[in-house]
Amino acid sequence: MKINPHFSQLKESYLFSTVGKKTAEFQKTHPGREVIRLSIGDVTRPLAPVVIEAMHRAVDDMSRRETFKGYGPDQTCYGYGVLLDSIQGSYARKGVALGTDEIFISDGAKSDLGNILDIFSEENVVLVPDPVYPVYVDTNVMAGRKILYADANEQNGFLPMPDPAVKADLIYLCSPNNPTGAAYSKEQLKEWVRYALAQDAVILYDAAYEYFITDPSLARSIYEVEGAKDCAIEFCSYSKTAGFTGVRCGYTVVPRSLVREGTPLNRLWARRQSTKFNGVSYITQMGAAAVFTEEGERQIRENLGYYRENARLIFSCLEELGIGYTGGKNSPYVWMKCPFGMDSWTFFDYLLENAAVVGTPGSGFGKNGEGFFRLTSFGTRENTAEACSRLKNLLLR
Ligand code: MLT
Repeated sequence: MKINPHFSQLKESYLFSTVGKKTAEFQKTHPGREVIRLSIGDVTRPLAPVVIEAMHRAVDDMSRRETFKGYGPDQTCYGYGVLLDSIQGSYARKGVALGTDEIFISDGAKSDLGNILDIFSEENVVLVPDPVYPVYVDTNVMAGRKILYADANEQNGFLPMPDPAVKADLIYLCSPNNPTGAAYSKEQLKEWVRYALAQDAVILYDAAYEYFITDPSLARSIYEVEGAKDCAIEFCSYSKTAGFTGVRCGYTVVPRSLVREGTPLNRLWARRQSTKFNGVSYITQMGAAAVFTEEGERQIRENLGYYRENARLIFSCLEELGIGYTGGKNSPYVWMKCPFGMDSWTFFDYLLENAAVVGTPGSGFGKNGEGFFRLTSFGTRENTAEACSRLKNLLLR
């Protein structure tokens, strides 16, 4: 018996677990201090009333023999028609035509971003931006794939562009980006699509934060770019869009026209999901189906507006302090430069010790994140305002 040897190549713990552990230690040694967490992007607003009503109705359905549901429909990998139709409708409003058989319901983007690797050979070379959401790197390290990095830094506005000299098979893009908050324009995504098509590569496009985009020149789906359906898989989530971090629902789009080595990837993914996944609960799917209704959209936009205002408080505070940042405008994350030339973990400790505010060290997202720090706008208004005032008191002093 041998264990997977690639696990020994991983960092000891997942970034957010390390942050959580350090925070818990601080709380143990400082029992009286009220700690404000602006680290992991976990939402704080309650679910929209239309979602709650739909979930209540779904619970009642489960109580009656006539409307009770067991496993979801297997022809669609357990996605219910009403939810698939609502997602299809939301794409149509972005000008993207999709078949419902191109949409797969999941329990969130993170799982699918990791699980999708099942359908690709371990020999593929992977290209990921640096800094980046650690899941892309860690899941490929677990599989022993070779990883190349595209540097995202202040010079390119944290939006690396393709280098034709680099040969890659799987390309991860995340826009609006986690952690930097930078977002690609349609023109920039066109270049990535052109590059992927030329290389016969597949783009794994993480669009978990697309609902934070307000600037119309920015793409909300990679499929707004011509040719993308021939080279990209898109991952979306209700977590940040509709506050589903504790409910769990997302969707992944694998277009029918995405074919490699004569094999439609849509078919491979359906095979993988029907074998290893049992679907998302009926109650959750009915709640999710209420999100992209007219009233649902209105209600989730209220919550998104709340988080946007939090982001504004954070970046206004940084502006007052004369600290450089990206993000916060089309993204829930504000990516700040650490003050006084501190490295990321030193600033983490400094902020925790002196202000009892927790953020995420940029270096945890990759080498180019060193010297940066990520703050989330998903906290409560009171906590965000209090964190800003503590930051100001500390740094002005
Ligand atoms: C983050 O803080 O980067 C995210 O909340 C993590 C996640 O969505 O898994």
